Amino acid sequence: MSLRESFEKNRDRRYIMFGGKGGLGKTTFSAATAFWLAQQGHKVLVFSVDPQASLSDIFQRDIFGKGAVKIMDNLWAQEIDADSHIKAYQQEVRKKILDMYGMERIPDEIEDYIQAASAEPAMEESAIFDAVVDIVVKGDYDYYIYDLVPLGHALYYLSMAKVYDEWINRITQLREQMREHEEMVARIRRQKERTAFFFVVVPEQMIILDTEKAAQLFAKFDVPIAGYIVNRVLPAELARQELPPYLQNRLQVQNRYLEEITKTFGAQLVGSVPELERDVTGLPMIERLAGIMYGDGAR
Ligand SMILES: Nc1ncnc2c1ncn2[C@@H]1O[C@H](COP(=O)(O)OP(=O)(O)OP(=O)(O)O)[C@@H](O)[C@H]1O
Ligand SMILES: [Mg+2]
Repeated sequence: MSLRESFEKNRDRRYIMFGGKGGLGKTTFSAATAFWLAQQGHKVLVFSVDPQASLSDIFQRDIFGKGAVKIMDNLWAQEIDADSHIKAYQQEVRKKILDMYGMERIPDEIEDYIQAASAEPAMEESAIFDAVVDIVVKGDYDYYIYDLVPLGHALYYLSMAKVYDEWINRITQLREQMREHEEMVARIRRQKERTAFFFVVVPEQMIILDTEKAAQLFAKFDVPIAGYIVNRVLPAELARQELPPYLQNRLQVQNRYLEEITKTFGAQLVGSVPELERDVTGLPMIERLAGIMYGDGAR
């Protein structure tokens, strides 16, 4: 099945995530997918919580912390500034304390406590989580593309799976609290089936191994994987040219790993993307990549 067929067969799909280790192409694929879906006439939001502001880089627009910014017809991009969410949360806590105890100012020891609590990674996670839930619950878009930060190690994968479940629960609870119709609640429960998680891999030994491990964890936590996409495949036409030994060798090594990828992920492999002659930034490059990923392969 191709990536395109995978979308055409799952028209209920609403939330798309690209995961994988650092620097493999998650942001690039998120942007290209968002571009393609927008071109197909769907209203799309691509968003991230990455403090590196990589969506700003790829779209060549300063969108960090600016809410949903319109990129082109049907396409919006948003970069959540977790720090500012934490600051707003601290401010809320201060206000509550002041109101509750009728204080004029926050005592130093309480302020110290607020500061220390905000330095906890859990606080950042929770701020990010709330921001993401807010975006999704509003339901303004046909598709939400969540450009994930690198999935580094086993623990992170586990927490991802947990966050994922939590997310679904929270959306459901929120809706229940709002006393929406039963029907609506049932629909939201189905959101899980409406989420597609794609793994980005490259033809390298370590990446294949790590991805396999991650996939096992996902399976254990019952998080379905929609497919795997190989990125940075050296163009096949290279093989038909006279190559210096260095490149010949690279090509051979890569072909070996490509075979391994095919063997490991089999029918779940939904795409293969060539190494382009330059990095992917700006709409014309994004469009070209979208054409490769979802079109007839025309470059
Ligand atoms: N097929 C490709 N051909 C050429 N350059 C590519 C290709 N795919 C990705 N790149 C480039 O590789 C770099 C890393 O890609 P990208 O930022 O999408 O990775 P990422 O997985 O989002 O990284 P991070 O884990 O840091 O978020 C970028 O400069 C991007 O333009
Ligand atoms: Mg990225």
